[in-house]
Amino acid sequence: MQIIAHRGASGDYPENTLLAIEQAIVQGADAIEIDVFAVDGELIVIHDHHLARTTNGSGSIYQYTIEQLMQLDAGRGQRIPTLWQVLQLLAPTSLWLNIELKGEDTVAPLLVLLDQAQRELHFDPNRLLISSFNHHLLADLKRQQPDLQLGALTACLAVDYAAFAQQLQAYSINCDVSFINQAFVTDAKARGLNVYVYTVDQADDIARLQQYGVDGIFSNYPARSKALLTDNS
Ligand code: G3P
Ligand code: MG
Repeated sequence: MQIIAHRGASGDYPENTLLAIEQAIVQGADAIEIDVFAVDGELIVIHDHHLARTTNGSGSIYQYTIEQLMQLDAGRGQRIPTLWQVLQLLAPTSLWLNIELKGEDTVAPLLVLLDQAQRELHFDPNRLLISSFNHHLLADLKRQQPDLQLGALTACLAVDYAAFAQQLQAYSINCDVSFINQAFVTDAKARGLNVYVYTVDQADDIARLQQYGVDGIFSNYPARSKALLTDNS
């Protein structure tokens, strides 16, 4: 079962910062998950569209220019990273990257940036998983770039289980630990989907998800969660 560092090693470092990502690499994570919004066509790495929880700013990200947002302190002197900075950081590593699209207007700039990353950083698109709770964004991406690996996020247990993810031709279904069960995992696997579960930091959950045959977990504490795996298959 793989360990995906949720917003980087966000349990111990400021979430969605380059520091948290660097520390997740040090902690042996298999992958990094980050949240992305678009401001003025630039993709920035932040979870909330309001600034107060994770920075020394206030109000909405959309009230500011990208230059103003880059001045803010995102914790321990860290800046809000751009997606490009994250791609640069991860390019020389073997980790894969889950980009979770939060904002509506993220698809067009993402496609431009991923093309640039492939050309300039030689970033293999197979090391990317693009996910969103907004399945319309994923459908749009699939139309424009059919080879991109998509993660259909869900916070509920749908009546027809993982059918919607299969319909989206997703690579994975990324679901909430609070409702996942064996029937859901079995259904997703039968549809050829990988299953990733958020957010998992507790030993009992890790053991249960390994039993279910889940492919990976999003953890705020990558090293600790990795140590709790019964094996690393
Ligand atoms: O992508 C998994 C997880 O990050 C989804 O929820 O709110 O932490 O972005 P959230
Ligand atoms: Mg997220």
